[in-house]
Amino acid sequence: TQPLRIAIAGLGTVGVGVVRMVTAHGDRMAARAGRAIEITAVSARSRTKDRGVDLSPYGWEDDPVALARRDDVDLIVEVMGGEDGPAKVLTETALGSGKHVVTANKAMMARHGQALAELAEANGAVLRYEAAVAGGIPIMKALTEGLAGNGIERVMGVMNGTCNYILTQMEQTGADYADVLMKAQQLGYAEADPAFDVGGIDAAHKLALLAATSFGTRVDFDGVQIEGIEQVSLADIEQAREMGYRVKLLGIARMGEDGLEQRMQPVLVPASSSVGRLDGVTNMVIVEGDFVGRTVFTGPGAGEGPTASAILGDVIDIARGLTVPAFGQPAGTLIAANRAATAGP
Ligand code: NAP
Ligand code: HSE
Repeated sequence: TQPLRIAIAGLGTVGVGVVRMVTAHGDRMAARAGRAIEITAVSARSRTKDRGVDLSPYGWEDDPVALARRDDVDLIVEVMGGEDGPAKVLTETALGSGKHVVTANKAMMARHGQALAELAEANGAVLRYEAAVAGGIPIMKALTEGLAGNGIERVMGVMNGTCNYILTQMEQTGADYADVLMKAQQLGYAEADPAFDVGGIDAAHKLALLAATSFGTRVDFDGVQIEGIEQVSLADIEQAREMGYRVKLLGIARMGEDGLEQRMQPVLVPASSSVGRLDGVTNMVIVEGDFVGRTVFTGPGAGEGPTASAILGDVIDIARGLTVPAFGQPAGTLIAANRAATAGP
């Protein structure tokens, strides 16, 4: 069997994690996929930066889009980030020529996911983005496969590791908001622009993707009512704790009789509840289905290892020949949902 040849666009926190994981577990992944998975080429802005991994075995492209034009590449791992720009051009170029794409880019998927999924389907390519939603938790696989027979009634949870890290560190150490945010950046949790994290936008991208997949609706990021954690003070957190509550950035998407409701906002939850007990970078996604009932998924929501794990889960699925559509059903069959009166800006 031919190896699956992958190229990695972006060698930051996630891209380096992918290189490390393929290096550490190449044999195990080959055994599970039934064929070898080989990195053939990489790209980043700086060719000379020391990234702590040996890149000498791989081809190099200064222009990431050139990766999609190489004959020795079957699949692109897009981990540069950015809603538009080179990430989108690369993804379109790859899918348009029948190459598969695995991306961690929720901003791009929340804005352009439908069009990209249609492009993939038209060209016999597979587009997957497990790493874009809730880090290491395999929630997209659960929704598009294990839970696919259910009517989903509600999907909710904590979907931004940086915010949960900031809120719990402030509570547990009394640390200053700006200092904890800087620590989250050093740990590789935060977005290139951390305003996306603390403003609730990153979590809203994820909620919009979860909602589309759960309800079979077109991705409606503009319909998410968003409030971030910038206004949450140490005094708010301490007052909540005295009353037995914790502050969490919680997302809820619900399909009601009056339409789709999507909200992302800081809320008080009982400290003893499952959401209230989440510490640090941990995420939780709760899915309520009509036949299965309530299912709860928890795990690390950001960082090098968890995100690489999600990427390589997708890569192995593609190596096995799985062709599950990006939103769990052909993109052209997703329907536009009415926004509930209480939802949307
Ligand atoms: P990062 O550390 O900032 O790395 C981004 C990489 O992309 C860098 O290597 C950078 O090159 C490269 N890059 C950026 N623009 C480029 C361009 N125009 N041309 C070529 N290379 C370019 O970001 P990250 O944390 O790895 O995140 C990458 C993606 O994964 C984002 O979409 C993010 O939302 C998503 N994600 C991240 C996490 C996480 O925990 N970090 C989790 C889930 C999803 P240089 O290094 O040379 O500057
Ligand atoms: N910045 C994101 C977070 C990365 O903190 O959750 C994972 O998507």
